[in-house]
Amino acid sequence: MTDFPDTGLQGDHVLSAVQQTMLIPLVARALGGGMFPGHACGDQHAAELVRRLRVPTEPYLVDRPTVLNILWRTKVMRDAALAFFARHPQAWGVNLGCGLSHYFQWLDNGHNTWLDADMPQSMQLRRHLLAPDTERHRTALVDLRRTGWWQDLKLPQDAVNQPLFMLCEGVLMYLQPYQAQHVLHSFAVNAPAGSRLLIDVMAGCAVGMARWHPSVGPTQAQFYWGIRSLSELTDCHPRLRLLATHSVAASHGWMGIAAEQMWNYWSSTPLYGVVELGVD
Ligand SMILES: C[S@@+](CC[C@H](N)C(=O)[O-])C[C@H]1O[C@@H](n2cnc3c(N)ncnc32)[C@H](O)[C@@H]1O
Repeated sequence: MTDFPDTGLQGDHVLSAVQQTMLIPLVARALGGGMFPGHACGDQHAAELVRRLRVPTEPYLVDRPTVLNILWRTKVMRDAALAFFARHPQAWGVNLGCGLSHYFQWLDNGHNTWLDADMPQSMQLRRHLLAPDTERHRTALVDLRRTGWWQDLKLPQDAVNQPLFMLCEGVLMYLQPYQAQHVLHSFAVNAPAGSRLLIDVMAGCAVGMARWHPSVGPTQAQFYWGIRSLSELTDCHPRLRLLATHSVAASHGWMGIAAEQMWNYWSSTPLYGVVELGVD
């Protein structure tokens, strides 16, 4: 458990193991660009939050592969969102398990609306640190383990009268497989035609291995969901389509490519990647 004595939330603000993992992408986006200039995401907010929370950054930054993975996935997700909003300028975007990330700084086109959603404790910290809701940048409480999580978002009619953009990064691997499958199923059932859901996925061999992960291990969170076949992403509902698969391997050079080629002897999935799902 972590608390933040300098935020004014003393005592009543303690993050659970999985909620603490939000500091990993926060530090990567704040400072990772100095280590990997070609992958810098130019996050205006993350550096300020790291400073205000007095996060000890060194333990996160020594885990260079994770910093690179996060910068890489941020760019993949941001580019997919920009392409989506170019096609649907007035659409809504939803970030499930948003932590302290701030995609709307890059995606606000003056017409779209963005909803950042997370569990109550995480959202309490977020609301304390970031600007209050506005008409086009909103927040919601959601627990993706709940069967009715989609309804909890309380999306208004104008959000679902057109395609919706959703992203969920660094979250589903911490859920039980049936819970992760239910998230995909709910998207398939409820999202309007043309909607997109971007998620990051881990290979099945990572399940149960979080204690060996240099950044996640100290939080004592665990990886419960990984995939052994890409079809596991769409099998739960006939509306679901796998539109794109991105692997981080090449960003890690020849060692990343070699490791993934060995893994691909057993499975066609990336070791770590981002997939874009759509509904017809
Ligand atoms: C590794 S952080 C990722 C945060 C953010 N997506 C990012 O990339 O910066 C994991 C996040 O998942 C959220 N989370 C964990 N379990 C969740 C659940 N059942 N429902 C919603 N959010 C959850 C945590 O609160 C935390 O913010």
